[in-house]
Amino acid sequence: MNTSTNAKASVYVTRRIPEVGLGEIREACNVRLWGNETPPSKEDIIREVASCEGLLCLLTDPIDADVIEAGERLRVISQYAVGVDNVDLAAATERGIPVGHTPGVLTEATADMAFALLMAIARRIPEGIEKVKTGGWRTWEPMGLLGANVWGATLGIVGLGRIGTAVARRAQGFAMHILYHDPQRHPALEEELGLVYASLEDLLAQSDFVSLHCPLNEETQHLIDEDTLRQMQPTAMLVNAARGPVVDTDALMRALRDGWIAGAALDVTDPEPLPAEHPLLKFSNCVVVPHVASATVSARNRMATMAAENLLAGLQGEPLPYCVNPEVYT
Ligand code: DGY
Repeated sequence: MNTSTNAKASVYVTRRIPEVGLGEIREACNVRLWGNETPPSKEDIIREVASCEGLLCLLTDPIDADVIEAGERLRVISQYAVGVDNVDLAAATERGIPVGHTPGVLTEATADMAFALLMAIARRIPEGIEKVKTGGWRTWEPMGLLGANVWGATLGIVGLGRIGTAVARRAQGFAMHILYHDPQRHPALEEELGLVYASLEDLLAQSDFVSLHCPLNEETQHLIDEDTLRQMQPTAMLVNAARGPVVDTDALMRALRDGWIAGAALDVTDPEPLPAEHPLLKFSNCVVVPHVASATVSARNRMATMAAENLLAGLQGEPLPYCVNPEVYT
Protein backbone atom coordinates (compact mmCIF):
# COMPACT_ATOMS: atom_id res chain seq x y z
CA MET A 1 0.00 0.00 0.00
CA ASN A 2 2.81 2.39 0.91
CA THR A 3 4.21 2.75 -2.59
CA SER A 4 7.49 4.34 -1.57
CA THR A 5 8.60 1.44 0.64
CA ASN A 6 6.36 -1.26 -0.77
CA ALA A 7 5.42 -2.14 2.80
CA LYS A 8 1.82 -3.07 3.35
CA ALA A 9 -0.25 -0.87 5.63
CA SER A 10 -1.62 -2.42 8.80
CA VAL A 11 -5.34 -2.28 9.35
CA TYR A 12 -7.50 -3.33 12.25
CA VAL A 13 -10.82 -4.91 11.30
CA THR A 14 -13.08 -5.14 14.33
CA ARG A 15 -15.19 -8.10 13.12
CA ARG A 16 -15.30 -10.58 10.30
CA ILE A 17 -17.21 -8.99 7.38
CA PRO A 18 -18.21 -10.70 4.11
CA GLU A 19 -15.22 -12.11 2.25
CA VAL A 20 -15.98 -10.06 -0.85
CA GLY A 21 -14.69 -7.02 1.05
CA LEU A 22 -12.32 -8.65 3.52
CA GLY A 23 -10.52 -10.50 0.73
CA GLU A 24 -9.80 -7.24 -1.08
CA ILE A 25 -8.39 -5.73 2.10
CA ARG A 26 -6.25 -8.81 2.79
CA GLU A 27 -4.69 -8.57 -0.65
CA ALA A 28 -3.55 -5.01 -0.04
CA CYS A 29 -2.90 -4.83 3.70
CA ASN A 30 -1.70 -6.62 6.78
CA VAL A 31 -5.03 -7.36 8.41
CA ARG A 32 -5.43 -7.69 12.14
CA LEU A 33 -8.88 -9.16 12.58
CA TRP A 34 -10.87 -9.34 15.80
CA GLY A 35 -12.18 -12.87 15.34
CA ASN A 36 -14.79 -13.01 18.13
CA GLU A 37 -18.52 -12.86 17.53
CA THR A 38 -18.99 -10.09 20.08
CA PRO A 39 -17.27 -6.70 19.72
CA PRO A 40 -13.81 -5.81 20.99
CA SER A 41 -13.75 -3.56 24.05
CA LYS A 42 -12.64 0.04 23.80
CA GLU A 43 -9.34 -1.02 25.39
CA ASP A 44 -8.86 -3.72 22.73
CA ILE A 45 -9.45 -1.16 19.99
CA ILE A 46 -7.12 1.38 21.56
CA ARG A 47 -4.38 -1.25 21.82
CA GLU A 48 -4.78 -2.29 18.17
CA VAL A 49 -5.18 1.11 16.51
CA ALA A 50 -1.96 2.33 18.10
CA SER A 51 0.00 0.56 15.38
CA CYS A 52 -2.46 0.71 12.45
CA GLU A 53 -2.87 3.03 9.50
CA GLY A 54 -6.44 1.93 8.85
CA LEU A 55 -9.45 1.01 10.96
CA LEU A 56 -12.52 -0.83 9.69
CA CYS A 57 -15.15 -0.67 12.41
CA LEU A 58 -18.77 -1.49 13.13
CA LEU A 59 -21.62 0.44 14.73
CA THR A 60 -21.00 -1.53 17.94
CA ASP A 61 -17.50 -0.06 18.38
CA PRO A 62 -17.00 3.13 20.41
CA ILE A 63 -14.71 5.13 18.13
CA ASP A 64 -14.46 8.10 20.45
CA ALA A 65 -11.81 10.76 20.97
CA ASP A 66 -9.65 8.38 23.08
CA VAL A 67 -9.55 5.78 20.32
CA ILE A 68 -8.83 8.39 17.68
CA GLU A 69 -6.06 9.88 19.79
CA ALA A 70 -4.55 6.43 20.34
CA GLY A 71 -4.51 5.83 16.58
CA GLU A 72 -1.48 8.04 16.03
CA ARG A 73 -0.81 6.54 12.62
CA LEU A 74 -4.45 6.30 11.52
CA ARG A 75 -5.07 7.61 8.01
CA VAL A 76 -8.63 6.36 7.53
CA ILE A 77 -11.64 5.09 9.46
CA SER A 78 -14.05 2.99 7.45
CA GLN A 79 -17.36 2.18 9.09
CA TYR A 80 -19.25 -0.92 7.94
CA ALA A 81 -22.66 0.80 8.23
CA VAL A 82 -24.38 3.93 7.01
CA GLY A 83 -24.93 5.36 10.50
CA VAL A 84 -21.80 6.73 12.18
CA ASP A 85 -23.16 7.88 15.55
CA ASN A 86 -20.56 5.67 17.28
CA VAL A 87 -17.71 7.66 15.70
CA ASP A 88 -16.56 10.99 17.11
CA LEU A 89 -16.56 12.78 13.77
CA ALA A 90 -15.30 16.04 15.24
CA ALA A 91 -12.26 14.28 16.72
CA ALA A 92 -11.55 12.48 13.44
CA THR A 93 -11.92 15.67 11.41
CA GLU A 94 -9.69 17.56 13.82
CA ARG A 95 -7.00 14.97 13.16
CA GLY A 96 -7.65 15.16 9.42
CA ILE A 97 -8.79 11.53 9.30
CA PRO A 98 -11.47 10.82 6.70
CA VAL A 99 -14.36 8.64 7.86
CA GLY A 100 -16.13 6.41 5.34
CA HIS A 101 -19.55 4.75 5.52
CA THR A 102 -21.85 2.67 3.33
CA PRO A 103 -24.86 4.72 2.18
CA GLY A 104 -27.38 3.61 -0.42
CA VAL A 105 -26.71 -0.11 -0.55
CA LEU A 106 -28.79 -1.00 2.49
CA THR A 107 -31.65 1.39 1.80
CA GLU A 108 -34.07 -1.11 0.28
CA ALA A 109 -33.24 -3.91 2.72
CA THR A 110 -33.81 -1.56 5.67
CA ALA A 111 -37.04 -0.19 4.21
CA ASP A 112 -38.27 -3.76 3.64
CA MET A 113 -37.63 -4.53 7.29
CA ALA A 114 -39.30 -1.35 8.53
CA PHE A 115 -42.37 -2.24 6.50
CA ALA A 116 -42.25 -5.86 7.65
CA LEU A 117 -42.19 -4.64 11.27
CA LEU A 118 -45.09 -2.31 10.58
CA MET A 119 -47.10 -5.21 9.14
CA ALA A 120 -46.04 -7.53 11.97
CA ILE A 121 -47.25 -5.23 14.73
CA ALA A 122 -50.36 -4.08 12.84
CA ARG A 123 -51.52 -7.64 12.17
CA ARG A 124 -50.12 -9.14 15.37
CA ILE A 125 -48.10 -11.72 13.48
CA PRO A 126 -45.68 -12.67 16.32
CA GLU A 127 -48.65 -13.15 18.67
CA GLY A 128 -50.29 -15.41 16.07
CA ILE A 129 -47.14 -17.47 15.64
CA GLU A 130 -46.83 -17.82 19.41
CA LYS A 131 -50.45 -18.91 19.69
CA VAL A 132 -50.04 -21.61 17.06
CA LYS A 133 -46.81 -22.89 18.57
CA THR A 134 -48.16 -23.05 22.11
CA GLY A 135 -51.38 -24.86 21.27
CA GLY A 136 -53.61 -21.81 21.69
CA TRP A 137 -55.16 -22.17 18.20
CA ARG A 138 -58.33 -24.08 19.02
CA THR A 139 -60.71 -22.73 16.41
CA TRP A 140 -61.35 -19.88 14.00
CA GLU A 141 -62.19 -16.97 16.24
CA PRO A 142 -64.52 -14.13 15.21
CA MET A 143 -62.71 -11.75 17.54
CA GLY A 144 -59.30 -13.33 17.99
CA LEU A 145 -56.10 -11.38 17.29
CA LEU A 146 -57.84 -8.43 15.71
CA GLY A 147 -55.30 -6.00 14.37
CA ALA A 148 -55.18 -2.69 12.53
CA ASN A 149 -55.64 -2.04 8.82
CA VAL A 150 -52.48 -1.00 7.00
CA TRP A 151 -54.22 -0.37 3.71
CA GLY A 152 -55.36 3.24 3.57
CA ALA A 153 -53.97 4.13 7.01
CA THR A 154 -51.95 7.25 7.77
CA LEU A 155 -48.20 6.78 8.00
CA GLY A 156 -45.94 9.38 9.59
CA ILE A 157 -42.32 9.18 8.49
CA VAL A 158 -39.83 10.94 10.74
CA GLY A 159 -36.68 11.56 8.69
CA LEU A 160 -37.09 11.63 4.92
CA GLY A 161 -33.64 10.51 3.86
CA ARG A 162 -32.94 7.56 1.59
CA ILE A 163 -34.57 4.99 3.87
CA GLY A 164 -37.56 7.13 4.85
CA THR A 165 -38.21 7.77 1.16
CA ALA A 166 -37.94 4.05 0.35
CA VAL A 167 -40.50 3.34 3.09
CA ALA A 168 -42.80 5.98 1.56
CA ARG A 169 -42.59 4.18 -1.80
CA ARG A 170 -43.70 0.95 -0.14
CA ALA A 171 -46.51 2.77 1.68
CA GLN A 172 -47.80 4.08 -1.63
CA GLY A 173 -48.55 0.49 -2.63
CA PHE A 174 -50.80 0.23 0.42
CA ALA A 175 -52.72 3.40 -0.46
CA MET A 176 -51.44 5.05 2.71
CA HIS A 177 -51.80 8.73 3.41
CA ILE A 178 -48.18 9.71 4.03
CA LEU A 179 -47.02 12.53 6.29
CA TYR A 180 -43.37 13.30 6.83
CA HIS A 181 -41.29 15.38 9.17
CA ASP A 182 -37.70 16.28 8.36
CA PRO A 183 -35.36 19.22 9.02
CA GLN A 184 -35.92 20.20 5.40
CA ARG A 185 -38.84 20.17 2.98
CA HIS A 186 -38.60 17.91 -0.09
CA PRO A 187 -40.94 19.47 -2.67
CA ALA A 188 -39.96 17.08 -5.48
CA LEU A 189 -40.74 14.02 -3.34
CA GLU A 190 -43.93 15.64 -2.05
CA GLU A 191 -44.99 15.96 -5.67
CA GLU A 192 -43.79 12.55 -6.82
CA LEU A 193 -45.03 10.48 -3.89
CA GLY A 194 -47.93 12.60 -2.67
CA LEU A 195 -46.23 13.23 0.67
CA VAL A 196 -47.48 15.88 3.05
CA TYR A 197 -45.03 17.79 5.21
CA ALA A 198 -46.12 18.08 8.85
CA SER A 199 -44.72 19.45 12.07
CA LEU A 200 -43.68 16.65 14.41
CA GLU A 201 -46.63 17.49 16.63
CA ASP A 202 -49.16 17.17 13.78
CA LEU A 203 -47.52 14.03 12.44
CA LEU A 204 -47.68 12.34 15.83
CA ALA A 205 -51.27 13.39 16.42
CA GLN A 206 -52.52 12.26 13.00
CA SER A 207 -50.60 9.09 12.19
CA ASP A 208 -51.81 5.51 12.63
CA PHE A 209 -48.20 4.39 12.23
CA VAL A 210 -45.10 6.43 13.01
CA SER A 211 -41.90 5.14 11.45
CA LEU A 212 -38.54 6.56 12.54
CA HIS A 213 -35.79 7.03 9.95
CA CYS A 214 -33.68 9.88 11.31
CA PRO A 215 -30.01 9.65 12.25
CA LEU A 216 -29.09 9.62 15.92
CA ASN A 217 -27.64 12.95 17.00
CA GLU A 218 -28.11 15.51 19.75
CA GLU A 219 -31.43 16.66 18.29
CA THR A 220 -32.90 13.18 17.85
CA GLN A 221 -31.72 11.52 21.07
CA HIS A 222 -34.97 10.67 22.91
CA LEU A 223 -37.00 12.48 20.27
CA ILE A 224 -39.67 9.97 21.17
CA ASP A 225 -40.11 10.39 24.90
CA GLU A 226 -43.04 10.64 27.30
CA ASP A 227 -44.08 13.98 25.86
CA THR A 228 -44.06 12.89 22.21
CA LEU A 229 -45.52 9.44 22.92
CA ARG A 230 -48.44 11.11 24.64
CA GLN A 231 -49.05 13.13 21.47
CA MET A 232 -49.70 9.92 19.50
CA GLN A 233 -53.13 8.33 19.20
CA PRO A 234 -53.97 5.45 21.57
CA THR A 235 -54.52 3.28 18.49
CA ALA A 236 -51.21 4.27 16.87
CA MET A 237 -48.11 2.13 16.52
CA LEU A 238 -44.44 3.07 16.50
CA VAL A 239 -41.78 1.53 14.27
CA ASN A 240 -38.07 2.14 14.90
CA ALA A 241 -35.49 0.95 12.37
CA ALA A 242 -33.23 3.98 12.96
CA ARG A 243 -31.25 3.93 16.21
CA GLY A 244 -32.38 2.75 19.64
CA PRO A 245 -31.68 5.96 21.59
CA VAL A 246 -34.05 7.94 19.37
CA VAL A 247 -36.69 6.40 21.65
CA ASP A 248 -36.71 6.67 25.45
CA THR A 249 -37.19 2.99 26.32
CA ASP A 250 -38.65 3.60 29.79
CA ALA A 251 -41.19 6.04 28.40
CA LEU A 252 -42.05 3.57 25.65
CA MET A 253 -42.73 0.85 28.23
CA ARG A 254 -45.07 3.19 30.11
CA ALA A 255 -46.79 4.05 26.83
CA LEU A 256 -47.31 0.39 25.95
CA ARG A 257 -48.42 -0.51 29.47
CA ASP A 258 -50.82 2.39 29.98
CA GLY A 259 -52.24 2.47 26.45
CA TRP A 260 -50.92 5.83 25.27
CA ILE A 261 -50.12 3.95 22.07
CA ALA A 262 -51.24 0.54 20.81
CA GLY A 263 -47.94 -1.06 19.87
CA ALA A 264 -44.32 -0.79 18.86
CA ALA A 265 -42.05 -2.70 16.51
CA LEU A 266 -38.33 -2.23 16.93
CA ASP A 267 -35.29 -3.27 14.94
CA VAL A 268 -33.13 -1.19 17.25
CA THR A 269 -33.28 -0.70 21.00
CA ASP A 270 -31.64 1.12 23.86
CA PRO A 271 -29.78 -0.67 25.34
CA GLU A 272 -28.58 -2.78 22.48
CA PRO A 273 -28.50 -5.72 22.67
CA LEU A 274 -31.60 -5.90 24.83
CA PRO A 275 -31.03 -8.55 27.52
CA ALA A 276 -33.45 -11.49 27.28
CA GLU A 277 -34.86 -10.61 30.70
CA HIS A 278 -35.56 -6.96 29.79
CA PRO A 279 -39.14 -5.96 30.75
CA LEU A 280 -39.82 -4.56 27.25
CA LEU A 281 -39.78 -8.12 25.94
CA LYS A 282 -42.74 -9.03 28.18
CA PHE A 283 -45.09 -6.76 26.26
CA SER A 284 -47.28 -8.64 23.79
CA ASN A 285 -47.86 -5.36 21.93
CA CYS A 286 -44.17 -4.94 21.18
CA VAL A 287 -42.13 -6.74 18.53
CA VAL A 288 -38.35 -6.66 18.75
CA VAL A 289 -35.82 -8.01 16.25
CA PRO A 290 -32.04 -7.80 16.77
CA HIS A 291 -30.93 -4.87 14.57
CA VAL A 292 -31.13 -6.87 11.37
CA ALA A 293 -32.73 -4.41 8.95
CA SER A 294 -29.75 -4.44 6.61
CA ALA A 295 -29.17 -8.18 7.04
CA THR A 296 -29.63 -9.46 3.51
CA VAL A 297 -26.84 -11.28 1.72
CA SER A 298 -26.68 -8.72 -1.04
CA ALA A 299 -26.82 -5.63 1.21
CA ARG A 300 -24.11 -6.94 3.53
CA ASN A 301 -21.89 -7.94 0.59
CA ARG A 302 -22.24 -4.50 -0.91
CA MET A 303 -21.55 -2.87 2.45
CA ALA A 304 -18.35 -4.95 2.67
CA THR A 305 -17.24 -3.86 -0.80
CA MET A 306 -17.89 -0.21 -0.05
CA ALA A 307 -16.16 -0.38 3.32
CA ALA A 308 -13.12 -1.94 1.60
CA GLU A 309 -13.17 0.76 -1.12
CA ASN A 310 -13.22 3.49 1.52
CA LEU A 311 -10.45 1.88 3.54
CA LEU A 312 -8.15 1.31 0.58
CA ALA A 313 -8.74 4.76 -0.87
CA GLY A 314 -7.87 6.34 2.47
CA LEU A 315 -4.68 4.32 2.76
CA GLN A 316 -3.67 5.40 -0.73
CA GLY A 317 -4.23 9.03 0.19
CA GLU A 318 -7.16 9.29 -2.21
CA PRO A 319 -10.52 10.85 -1.33
CA LEU A 320 -12.91 8.26 0.09
CA PRO A 321 -15.70 7.47 -2.37
CA TYR A 322 -18.25 7.56 0.47
CA CYS A 323 -16.96 10.06 2.98
CA VAL A 324 -18.90 11.42 5.98
CA ASN A 325 -16.52 14.30 6.74
CA PRO A 326 -15.36 15.60 3.33
CA GLU A 327 -14.25 18.80 5.05
CA VAL A 328 -10.99 16.99 5.83
CA TYR A 329 -10.10 17.54 2.17
CA THR A 330 -10.52 21.32 2.20
C1 DGY B 1 -26.50 1.05 9.50
O1 DGY B 1 -25.86 0.77 8.48
O2 DGY B 1 -26.38 2.13 10.06
C2 DGY B 1 -27.46 0.02 10.01
O3 DGY B 1 -28.02 0.33 11.23
C3 DGY B 1 -26.85 -1.36 10.04
O4 DGY B 1 -26.67 -1.76 8.77
